[in-house]
Amino acid sequence: MGTELDLILKKYKPGKREDLIPMLQEVQEHIGFLSEEAVVKIGNYLGLSTTKIYGLATFYDRFRFYPAGKIKILVCNGTSCFLNGSQSIINKLKEETGIQPGFTTRDGNFSYEIVSCMGGCQNGPLIKVNGEYHTHISASQLPELLKKLKYVLEND
Ligand code: FES
Repeated sequence: MGTELDLILKKYKPGKREDLIPMLQEVQEHIGFLSEEAVVKIGNYLGLSTTKIYGLATFYDRFRFYPAGKIKILVCNGTSCFLNGSQSIINKLKEETGIQPGFTTRDGNFSYEIVSCMGGCQNGPLIKVNGEYHTHISASQLPELLKKLKYVLEND
């Protein structure tokens, strides 16, 4: 993991703090989450404290600091999905899983992230569960869906 991280860092200029967000995005894309090791290294590279990085990253709502759950849900919060009620989906997921976006349940089963437009605006609100799209989803469908997903997980 160290090497992959080092390769990503090398693409950026040391000390160029404006690159923080793109760097975090790239690390998350390649490694799956922002490990403590990654945050420390990025901090050293850009001359930023880890506290500052965590503060900025959590503000963006789309970074994760733990490995994703076995069931990984992406919730679109692009303009169209937002207008179609994605916020109620996010609230329901918070309520059902007890976790914030970017976190993973203690049993390692679920995690969810908020993402921008996934290109299916006509079918929003849209979520993606382990790579599979669920269209026109409503908050009231979520408890049943999560129950089904958990059942599949436990009986796989
Ligand atoms: S805004 Fe959600 S798919 Fe485009």
